[in-house]
Amino acid sequence: MTLSLFDTHTHLNDADLLARTEELLVRAQEAGVLRLVVPGYDRESSLRAMDLASRYESVYAVVGYHPQDARAVKEQDFADLERWINDAKVVGIGEIGLDYHYDDTPREIQADVFRRQIAIAKRVKKPIVIHDRDAHGDIVNILREENAKEIGGIMHCFSGSVEMAIDCLNLNFYISFAGPVTFKNALRPQEVALNIPLDRLLVETDAPYLTPVPHRGKQNEPANVRLVAEKLAQLRGISVNELAQVTYENANRIFGIKG
Ligand code: NI
Repeated sequence: MTLSLFDTHTHLNDADLLARTEELLVRAQEAGVLRLVVPGYDRESSLRAMDLASRYESVYAVVGYHPQDARAVKEQDFADLERWINDAKVVGIGEIGLDYHYDDTPREIQADVFRRQIAIAKRVKKPIVIHDRDAHGDIVNILREENAKEIGGIMHCFSGSVEMAIDCLNLNFYISFAGPVTFKNALRPQEVALNIPLDRLLVETDAPYLTPVPHRGKQNEPANVRLVAEKLAQLRGISVNELAQVTYENANRIFGIKG
């Protein structure tokens, strides 16, 4: 039986994958991946995501400015984002958020660019895709203060606790898991994956990064989302078919994609 998988976060716009787009999409389709969302992280990658979405029916784009690029974001970039977001195949704003792992962008600038993008998403009523690295508390505070609940969104490659996941669920967010949930020492994401409602669960690859077991060390690609789905199905004690179907429907719901 064929699966219906939705890779909700995959960087086909990354230079390493861009040259192999056709090949990667065929391999994804063979693995049961029917739809993919390619998120931008700066101007160029957002434009590339939109270009891919315009050329391939199964590909959708999310556009925006990543916290590590926050310092480079100018007024014109916000204006362009407001324009891009009206494209029918642009299904959200992302990846946006906070990154405290590499402390090279001042936190106030990251927060300002994050808040302004949430405001744009609220104006156009599209969901947001959150990048959170070592910034759990501030992410939840900003989502609350900006009333992001109005639009909801996705916690991409979730790495927080069960308590944080519950906060995010209450803010109308979905919880997405990538390769790390397949790692042997991934006790925390596995605990979260077991304790959230199935109708808020999503799968992604974050390719070319975060390659799941047993392909660690190799470049990641959308077809591998199947391995993430298999791991989650095993954890939840359901079939991979059911896990795939439910997460596929969840992804279509949050991104507002019909059918
Ligand atoms: Ni990403």
